[in-house]
Amino acid sequence: MSDAARADARVIGRAVHALDEVGSTQAEIAWLAAEGAPEGVVVTARHQRAGRGRLGRAWWDRAGESLLLSVLLRPEIVPGRAPQLSLVGSLAVVDAVAAETGLTPGMRWPNDVMVGERKICGVLAEAATGAGGRLDRVVLGIGLNVNQAEFPPEVAARASSLRLLTGRVHDRDRLLAALLAALDARYREFLAEGESLRAAWRRHSVTLGARVRAADGREGVAVDLDDTGALLIRAEDGALLRVASGEIAGAPAA
Ligand code: BTN
Repeated sequence: MSDAARADARVIGRAVHALDEVGSTQAEIAWLAAEGAPEGVVVTARHQRAGRGRLGRAWWDRAGESLLLSVLLRPEIVPGRAPQLSLVGSLAVVDAVAAETGLTPGMRWPNDVMVGERKICGVLAEAATGAGGRLDRVVLGIGLNVNQAEFPPEVAARASSLRLLTGRVHDRDRLLAALLAALDARYREFLAEGESLRAAWRRHSVTLGARVRAADGREGVAVDLDDTGALLIRAEDGALLRVASGEIAGAPAA
């Protein structure tokens, strides 16, 4: 396929609404979706007044420093597969950041992109079901720290930006183009249901092999991801625990 034909065949980013200031790009996409917008529409913003993170948290930004975007997806899948889309999003960020900056980011299950111990990006997949419990859409939100020179004290010890990590300012439009291309490629892999995506998750995971504690207090070593994207943890008594969603923390060394 020629480059031009490949660009035409692209689903993600076939329409990009670049907005200045919004409440949340997630809400902007939900409105477009309610009006019948097709899969692949993207909304970006320079600033969000009410950015949303996972688990009901807020997502802070200062205007013009981050890449803030949401993508409308309408995959024909069972609702149980929807959480995997946050892994698809994180993996696309890993691909794009590695290609554009030379950094080697890793994925902390379920949705964080890390460089070393610091978070550079969060991904939020919000699913909506329709009649008969059918999956109507997933809004995939990505917040990537690009040109911050500093962070508020609450997150300063845990967050970083591409600028802080590379010592240079990055072109957000160029990063966006690389990210949408990577997302399009990874989303196709997801729809094809092959093993390649799970192999890539394993390869880039900084969680596998680490001692972790699930939100319910269960501890062990993260040993794999199952085919739904859930984390498998080998507990000290040998039991295999499956954590489908939520959060994990580093567990104290045994
Ligand atoms: C997390 O908690 O790590 C996920 C953060 C997701 C933030 C992005 S920024 C663009 C999109 N719009 C939002 O309101 N949230 C997501």
